Order: sequence, then structure tokens, then C-alpha cells
Amino acid sequence: MASFDPFPVLTTPRLTLRPIEPSDVERIFRIQSDPEVTRYFGRGPDGSIADSERRIAAILAGVRENTSIRWGITLKENGELVGTAGFWRWNKPHRWAEIGYELLPALWNRGIMTEALRAVLRFGFESMELHRVEAHIDPENRASARVLERLGFVREGQHRQNWYYDGRFTDTAVYGLLRDEAAAT
Ligand SMILES: CC(C)(COP(=O)(O)OP(=O)(O)OC[C@H]1O[C@@H](n2cnc3c(N)ncnc32)[C@H](O)[C@@H]1OP(=O)(O)O)[C@@H](O)C(=O)NCCC(=O)NCCS
Repeated sequence: MASFDPFPVLTTPRLTLRPIEPSDVERIFRIQSDPEVTRYFGRGPDGSIADSERRIAAILAGVRENTSIRWGITLKENGELVGTAGFWRWNKPHRWAEIGYELLPALWNRGIMTEALRAVLRFGFESMELHRVEAHIDPENRASARVLERLGFVREGQHRQNWYYDGRFTDTAVYGLLRDEAAAT
């Protein structure tokens, strides 16, 4: 089973996926305080730097305790942290985890998240020995659905009105990718 010490830095043609550090707080806040980013998260954007500090502390605790992992996605061309991605809700006995991700809107639709997630998934299946990766998304989040479909995820079903936020109930689309399917894409 994977140890996250030393932290597994991943590289792709355009990106370096590296550990998130307390000093990244301004960048994380810039991403997490943007309502476009959190639109489908079933929660509001970060309202203060302290919110993002707590977010980073939770990420670091997950990595330290080997219960979850989140990478900072940086552009090789300038080192800028432009997003994050990782696994959470890691169910070790049953060998699955849920994937999560978000990117600065200025960089959307350039294939960056698809590229980042390919490396994240490879790590999950090979090093964390996952058999299955799940994604739970708002069915209206078309960009996220498209990324998952391109990576070979299968839409397995839909929970009806299981999320309540801002005065309304929303559905959750459940996607799954099995290890063998990922190897085939
Ligand atoms: C989801 C997200 C990470 C995608 O990142 P990205 O780097 O732009 O993704 P990619 O460029 O790799 O792929 C996006 C795909 O969605 C498509 N797309 C974008 N907006 C779309 C829309 N409104 N309807 C249909 N397709 C759309 C793009 O055309 C592209 O598909 P293509 O390459 O086949 O043309 C980004 O939109 C984001 O950060 N959103 C906010 C956070 C979020 O929702 N995270 C997921 C939570 S489950």
C-alpha cells in the first residue's frame, strides 16, 4: 500500500503535481474563493484566507495520516499553482477512493485537468492499489462529466436530491472507473 512519505511528485508533459504547502495559501484562496469554481460543490466559496488555511491543514493531515492525498497542479512553464486534484474517502479494505479536482477558470478547456488526472489515476491504480475510483458530481457540471468520460469513467447512476444547499436539493451523478478499464484507455 502506498506511503505518501516521501510525497509522490508526478509529472506530465505540461504539469508538475507536487505537495501542497502552507505557503500556497494565497493561490489556494484565489481558486477556492471563486464562485465559478465552487458552483457545483454544494457549498459556498472560501470567504477568507483562514478558510483556505483550514483547507490546507486538512490536506496535510490526510497526507500525514495516509488517509487521503491531494496534489498541487503547477504549470511547468512558470511553476504557478493553478489547481489541485487527489483522492479522498479512501476505503482501503474495499480498494476504492473518490477523486476530486478543481482548476483556476482562466485555464479551463485546455485539457489540463484531463492531463493531470491521467497521472493521478495511474498513481491510484498502481501505487495505492485501487481497484475502483469513484466520482460524485452535480449532473449539471458538464465540464466535469466530460473530463470523466474522456478518462473512461462510466456513469453508473444518479442519487436523487441527496444534496441540500442554498435552499434547494440537487442530484448526484455517480461515475466509476475500474483498474482494467483505465489500463485500456
Ligand atoms: C471540471 C474542470 C476541472 C475541468 O478542467 P479543464 O482543464 O477545463 O478540463 P479539460 O480541458 O481537460 O476538459 C474539459 C472538457 O469539458 C468540455 N466542456 C467544458 N465546458 C462544457 C460545457 N459547458 N458543456 C459541455 N462540455 C464542456 C470541454 O470542451 C472539454 O472537453 P473536450 O476536450 O472534449 O472538448 C474545471 O472546469 C473546473 O475546475 N471546474 C470547477 C471545479 C469543479 O467543478 N470540479 C469538479 C468537481 S466534481
